Amino acid sequence: MFTKKEIIEILKDDTKNEWLFSLADKTRKENVGDGIHLRGLVEFSNICKCNCKYCGLRKDNNNADRYRILKDEIIKIVKHASDMGYKTIVLQSGEDGYYTTDKMVEIIKSIKEFDVALTLSIGERSYEDYKAFKDAGADRYLIRIETTDKNLYKQMHPNMDFDNRLRCLKDLKTLGYEVGTGCLVGLPNQTTESLADDILFFREIQADMVGIGPFIPHPDTPLNNADKGSFTLALKVMALTRIMLPDINIPATTAMETLHPNGRIIALKSGANVVMPNITTQQYRAKYEIYPDKICVNDNPDKCRNCIGAKIKSIGRFVAENYGFSHNKG
Ligand code: SAM
Ligand code: SF4
Ligand code: FES
Repeated sequence: MFTKKEIIEILKDDTKNEWLFSLADKTRKENVGDGIHLRGLVEFSNICKCNCKYCGLRKDNNNADRYRILKDEIIKIVKHASDMGYKTIVLQSGEDGYYTTDKMVEIIKSIKEFDVALTLSIGERSYEDYKAFKDAGADRYLIRIETTDKNLYKQMHPNMDFDNRLRCLKDLKTLGYEVGTGCLVGLPNQTTESLADDILFFREIQADMVGIGPFIPHPDTPLNNADKGSFTLALKVMALTRIMLPDINIPATTAMETLHPNGRIIALKSGANVVMPNITTQQYRAKYEIYPDKICVNDNPDKCRNCIGAKIKSIGRFVAENYGFSHNKG
């Protein structure tokens, strides 16, 4: 375990990166083993009422070609993924008011008829909504805090409220979800100190899952001219997260592979134990453009499953066959 001061020193010093990555890999192996959990990701709507400055799905991006996938088509996607052996489905979208509490409950109940764990990643909702989703069978929820620096949070999220984001995380914990959170690395004006705070925050809220992604500027957002985040720094934040929270689930994020051709495999060798292959039908993929040059937009669910399976095998690891519930008993 490291103190905040030590975390900052490690983040600033690039001479010990190999030591850090192998310590994170060893910690991963000892605590969660060699199995890699695949979570099939359905990007079911790119419509969003929010205006996060970094995101290509933001409301004010008039160049986005918007779509919604309705219940029957979602179920078809899930059935195919379940037939391929996926044990977890992740439903992700913008904050799209079309999916009312009742509509989500129906979708959740239908998905839970398959032999899968279900994760939602649909943004900020009320306690009552989260309770209804949990009662309908949802197991997990992903909602990144994005940054724990309140000033930066305010700059990045017009009309959003840091305290409400926190409230969501707390409600989800109270309701018994496995809770996933995480941060962006490389946002404009983000400090190393605040990244250290992010890592300590993940511990404080006893996250079950933490996703770390480098920031990638999107041309149709206010941050179009900003520098992109550093792959190495994102990897270091991820490795430190593994060391500080040894038994949680940590994905090798798609954004890492977007910045580095072998990014997910490098992440899997530096502390990660989860991959979230895209199982969205090909026709929608390019439209879920949260950042440019996203991987797999011209591929289909079968290709991605085979591709990632082969990559995992090539590093001597294996695809876990269980649901991959959190080891973190808090
Ligand atoms: N709308 C939900 C939310 O914000 O929680 C879920 C979907 S949102 C697209 C999922 C994640 O995408 C966000 O938590 C954010 O960290 C990430 N993201 C958005 N824009 C990004 C960018 N330009 N670069 C890297 N990651 C980005
Ligand atoms: Fe919407 Fe999520 Fe993108 Fe923010 S990050 S604009 S909430 S999809
Ligand atoms: Fe989609 Fe490799 S994971 S093609």
